[in-house]
Order: sequence, then C-alpha cells, then structure tokens
Amino acid sequence: MSETKPQIDIDFIIENATLAEKSNLLAGHDFWHTTPLPDYNVPSIRMSDGPNGIRGTKFFNGVPAACLPCGTALGATWDTMLIQEAGVLIGKEAKAKGASIWLGPTMNIQRSPLGGRGFESFAEDPHLSGMLAAAIIQGVQSEKVIATPKHFVCNDQEDHRRGLETIVTDRALREIYLKPFQLALAHSNPHAIMTAYNKLNGKLCSQSPELLQKTLREEWGFEGATISDWYGTYSTSESMAAGLDIEMPGPPQWRGRLLSAAVSAMALPMHTVDARVRSVLQLVKRASECEVSEEEIIRNTPEDRSILRRLASESIVLLKNEDTVLPWAEIESVGVVGVHSKAATYCGGGSAQLSPYYVVTPMEGLQKFVQKIDYCPGAYGHQLQPLLGPFVKSNPGITVTFYNDPYNTPGRTALEVVEIADSSFQLLDYKPPGANMIFYASMTGSLTPEKTAVWDFGVMCHGTAVLYINDKLVVDNATQQRAGGSFFGSGTVEELGFVELQKGTRYEFRLEWGNGRTSTLQRLGATTLSNGGARLGGCPRIDAKLAIDEAVQMARAQKHVVIFIGLNQEIESEGYDRTSMDLPGHTNVLIDAVLDANPNAIVVVQSGTPVAMPWASKAKAVIQAWYGGNELGNAIADVIFGKVNPSGKLPMTFPKAMQDNPAFLNFNANDGRVLYGEDIFVGYRFYEKMEKEPQFAFGHGLSYTTFELSDLEVSSSDVQLIVQNTGTRQGAEVVQVYVAPVQSYTCRPVKELKAFSKVALEPGEAKQVNIRLDRNATSYWSETQDAWVSQKGEYEIFVGTSSDRIMLTARFTQDRTVIWRGL
Ligand code: BGC
Repeated sequence: MSETKPQIDIDFIIENATLAEKSNLLAGHDFWHTTPLPDYNVPSIRMSDGPNGIRGTKFFNGVPAACLPCGTALGATWDTMLIQEAGVLIGKEAKAKGASIWLGPTMNIQRSPLGGRGFESFAEDPHLSGMLAAAIIQGVQSEKVIATPKHFVCNDQEDHRRGLETIVTDRALREIYLKPFQLALAHSNPHAIMTAYNKLNGKLCSQSPELLQKTLREEWGFEGATISDWYGTYSTSESMAAGLDIEMPGPPQWRGRLLSAAVSAMALPMHTVDARVRSVLQLVKRASECEVSEEEIIRNTPEDRSILRRLASESIVLLKNEDTVLPWAEIESVGVVGVHSKAATYCGGGSAQLSPYYVVTPMEGLQKFVQKIDYCPGAYGHQLQPLLGPFVKSNPGITVTFYNDPYNTPGRTALEVVEIADSSFQLLDYKPPGANMIFYASMTGSLTPEKTAVWDFGVMCHGTAVLYINDKLVVDNATQQRAGGSFFGSGTVEELGFVELQKGTRYEFRLEWGNGRTSTLQRLGATTLSNGGARLGGCPRIDAKLAIDEAVQMARAQKHVVIFIGLNQEIESEGYDRTSMDLPGHTNVLIDAVLDANPNAIVVVQSGTPVAMPWASKAKAVIQAWYGGNELGNAIADVIFGKVNPSGKLPMTFPKAMQDNPAFLNFNANDGRVLYGEDIFVGYRFYEKMEKEPQFAFGHGLSYTTFELSDLEVSSSDVQLIVQNTGTRQGAEVVQVYVAPVQSYTCRPVKELKAFSKVALEPGEAKQVNIRLDRNATSYWSETQDAWVSQKGEYEIFVGTSSDRIMLTARFTQDRTVIWRGL
C-alpha cells in the first residue's frame, strides 16, 4: 500500500508558525534545496539547472544526465510540438535526479551575438521565444515538475552581470523583453519565475515592486513563486516588500535572523511576510505532488536517445547549398578537417553545463556512414588550452585529492580522492568531507606524448594554483594573479607556461590548488563563492602554416571534404561575453585555404550564436549545427548524408560584421550601465528598417526539397493557406507569418513575426494550414497610455519561409481601436 503524504496546511502554518520558522522558509536551506519545516509536514524541495537538461546537485563529479541541444538550437526547430516533447524529457530527467523544480527555460534576448549566455535563450524575437518557452514549460509541468522561466528581466549580457543597470524604454521593455514572459504565462502556467541579477532603470529586478507585483502579479495574474537568481537577493525588507519570495541559495544572507530583526524593527509588516510564506508553501505543496527519486539516478533510455537525436537534427540549419553539394550520397572516403570533429561540443559554459550521459562526436557520427576517413586538425581553434582528458591514457586517469593542508606540508592527510573525467573541476556546490574553510587539492595524472614537441599549458582558477610537470614548476597562478571572467566571474585569466616533452616518455602532471578563499583577487561584481575550482589545459604547439598546408594537401586529394569549426563552452559561457564575433586563432585562414583547394568542401559551424563568416560567399555549403547535446555527431551526419532533411530556421539574424549589429554601440557596460539604444529595433527589426543586408536573415534555413505556398486568405484572427512539397523528398517547412500596419502614426518595424507553424510533407503532398492571430498581432505598447494599443486600420500580412523570403501577402482591416492590458 502506498503511503499517503502528510498534508501541508498552509493556513494553519501561517497562523501558528513562529517568525523564525517563517523566515527560514523564505530562503534556501543549502545550494539546491528549500528549507523544510518538519513540525508542519513541510519537506525540503530540490531545484536543479537548467536549461539544457538536469545537472542534479553537483557541478563537481555530477551524476551523468541527458543533454539537450542548447536554447538557440531548440529555437531553430521552430517546432512547438517537438519542444513540448523536449520538456517531457526534462521533466523525467528532473525526477530521476530528485528535483521537482527545473531552473529553466532561459528566455532572455540576444541583443548582440556577443552575449556570453546567448546560447541558452531561444531567439532574438519575442514571439518565437515566448511560444517555444510555453511549449517546453507545458512539457515539463505535464510531468508535475515545476518550470522556472528565467531571468526576469533584461539579463541579456554578462559584462558586470550582477548589478548592471539596464536602461530601456517602457516600449522596448514591453514589446521585446517582457513579451516572451508574457506569452509564456499566457500559453502555459509556470509555477515559478527566477529574477535577474541586474537593475532595470535604476532598480534591482529582485527588489522591483513594478516588476514583481505590478506587472507580474497584478497585471498578468501570476500565482507562482518568485525565486532569486543565485546570490541575487540584495536586501531584506526591500526584496520582501517588492514580492521576492525565496532567497537562493541558502543558508540565507538576507533573510533568517535579519528578517526577524526587520519585523521587530517594524521595517517589514507581518502581512508581507505571510504573503511571501504563502507563496513559498504553495510552491512546496505543488512540488511535493511530484514523485521524485531519492537518489540521483541515470536514465539514458533508447526512447530518450531518439528524441535527443531528433531535437539535434531538426535544429540544424542548412545555411547554404549551392550546386546541391549536399546531401552526400554513399561515398567511400572523406577528408575531415578541424579539431572540432573530434571534440565533444555538446553545450555552452556556466550553469547550463552538465556531465552528459555520452557524446557522439562529429567524427563518430561520420564513421557510421563512411568507411575511410582521413583527418587533419588544421589550425587550432581554441581560445583556452584544450583540457587534457583526451591525452591521458593511464588508469586511473585524472584524480583530485583533497587536503586541509597546503602541498608543501610534509605527511599531509588526504580527505578524499576522486577520479574525474577531465582536467577541470568546479566546487560551487561541493565541499569535501572534513574540509576546513580553507582547503587544498592536488589534481594529478600522466601524459605520454606520441611526438616530441613543445607543449603549452594553461592554468585558470578561482583560488590559487601552480602546475608541476615531473616536479618542475611550469605555471604559477598563485603569486601574481590577474582577474578574468572564469568561474562565474570569480576566477583568473589563463596563465601559460611551456615545456618540451619527449616522444614515448611518461610525464606526471600535478596541479597544486588552494580553494577560493586563498585567491588574492578582490572582486566586485563576481558571484561570492568560496569553494572555487581550477582548470588545466595543454597541447603540443603546432606550426599553423604547416598544419594548414597539410589540410590543403588532403583537401586536394579528396573529393568529399568537410570542415568542422566553431566555438565551445569556454568561449561562450556564463560569466563573460565574447569580445568579437570572429572564429578563434587561424580558423578563417584554414577555411579559406581548404575552400581554395576544394571548392565543394562543406563547412559545419558549431556555435551557440553567430560567428563572422568572411568566407561565406566562397563556401558552397554551410551548416549551422549549434551545441547539439548528446547526439550532436549523429545529427550532423544524418543531415550531411540526407538521412534527415534539414528543416531548422535561424532564430536570430546572422550579421556580416559586429558593426552591423544594432547593439554595437551600446553593448558593454559603461560605468555599470548599459543603454538599450536600439530600442524596439532588435535583430531583424533593425536590419529590415535600415535595409542592411545580413549574412543570413532571421528565419532563414534551406531544405533538400522545395515548397510552394498558395491560396492565402486572412482576417484579423485567422491566416489560411496551402503549403505544398514540390520536390522529391519528404521534408518540413516553417510557415512564418509577419504583420505590419499599412500606415501608422507610431514608428513601427517593417514587419514582426506574429505566428508560425511547422508542417511536415511527403513529396508532392499539399496541406491546408490554419494559423490563429490574436490581439498581440496588431498591438504596440503606448507609453503615454501605459497600455497595449491595437489601432484601427489596415494591416498587411506577410507569409513566407524566412523573413527575407516572403511569398504571399494579403491585407485585412480592423475597424476599431482596442486598448488593453494584461495577458
Ligand atoms: C545563473 C542561473 C542558475 C543559477 C544556479 C546562476 O549563476 O544565473 O541561471 O540557475 O546560477 O546555478
């Protein structure tokens, strides 16, 4: 017989709990759990990141998990049904990791290609972002796991990420940045929301009554709980009064005893405390209806793998395919260029990171289709030295041994020994058993090089770290430390050192590390973490020219060549923004040279956001493959060999150059502030208004078949048309519906996406598509009326398969003006 859970009686608790008990409820118990009140049957609830899977409770040595493609990749599917399935998978994974609250989806906006967390969010367009968020939330919550859309709001860059002041007009705030949240709330019912670190027009988001009470609760009727971002609660009374329910993580810095003191000083009325407590108890009550595993367990089922493969392959965008270079038929041999082909570029960096069940690399994906593969790394494409894992062949591989004493203490006693997958560790949410406030570790392993070469090593840490190779000091990142963006903004830059290693000789490496409290950096704006972490990278130095020449020789000799290039989780990460859109190192020179040698070579880009492609006009075939999660290599090979007909569409504009981007002048923080100077003209809204041709337009993506759209009929609430697959392969097309007033006294974009539908069709098949429009389609935010205005008059509907490929237009007339607020 199953045990019935004791009931949580919210009114009784509010009536009877002491102030100390209530204030405990209003903050986390530890890094990932809410505080329990056992006397009142209130359990502790586990939360977990988010957004591309469920990491569980450990950044360090975490339990392996399903890794979905990154947010922009999911955005590129434009497929609400599929994204809902993704949500169901996340819900199941959450339960397996003991979590009933998922910290996702991330739904900020890519104002610029450079945003460090741009890869986490869906799109530059609020409608696409909001509708996909609603779909994933529905999926997650159908498993009774609570979704927590984040970060509310305007958390669109990492520079000065905690406390940056965003200056934005009310109109842009409503039409671009709040709109995705508004749509998500209208079409799903997330039971929680995470506040952002930053300020909005002078007020911290986590203590803004305008945002948390007026807009979210009063205007939109949100009934869930508000949770601060980690260390993103900055006050006691103000945040409570503004409507922030839970301070995370725990133990509390602003609640607990400070909160009791605020009540006794009458700085905080008891009814406010009770309102917050009610919200937390409702969240916990809902969350406790979800049956979760007690231990963190591994799922990794064949069904999951097939959804992950579909998600990854349907996210791939075929950017160019001149002379029908793709798909490749059955071939006997292929030349592969680029270190990315062997790398596991499965997700971006920061809190999105998790330990994946497995990763199929592009090379492994190709091996399933073709017998003979020649490989040349070409020029290196890293920004930080690559992790050592792939070079370490010994058993055990890389281990971390924790101590309470520094490395020069004779006979120090080990607290714990852990074998780790790669040469990097992050102890954000982990402390070894028996560790003091200040503790230490040795990360050790061995290398046996295949060639004699000079090796460059790089060490980055939060804490202090020195690297020894065979007991010889190679890198000192302890004596004179330099601040960098690593480790959520608390770490150093990468310090380099080199040493010549002889072929066939075994070398022992030893990184001696002191935890975050030994750091000599005094930081403003970094997350306050004390346990810290370290990262060790290294690789043999190569001569870029020789390496490129070698790739060129191979490209000449092979008929079929594919170049794998892109970014990775160290270049695109939470904690810092990119400084340029350029590919790292000599990558562009490599691509140019290989394309000169073999003009049919295809280029596969793995990145979460746009990279500059100075070779774009030269390349015949270009594929955007994002960070594709566990199945990335299979998905790429499926598209290259035509097992999957690509149907992804860009969820953001790919500009030709950074200078073309509307946020170019106003992206980095100036004196702690950033002005959203482009106003509502974000992404394609800007490029179209300025008639500036991008590299690839919003909504662009090719297929191996062809589609025709016809018979468009429109009214103010419906769009109807016929879509036909006029080619010879099965495929799917995204019908994109854009709207604009024919005449307006208010400045409006050329057109805005207001609806879309993805349609799968057999060769020759035609389907009627019916798409509904609502009042959002015609409305703009009027600052003078502080409301949405849907003006009477004529509207033009543009229907196409990309923002720059409009195939049909029609008009409808709205005969009265409607002014509205709410969802
Ligand atoms: C991120 C959040 C994340 C949280 C917990 C913060 O640094 O901004 O998105 O959910 O950490 O890992």
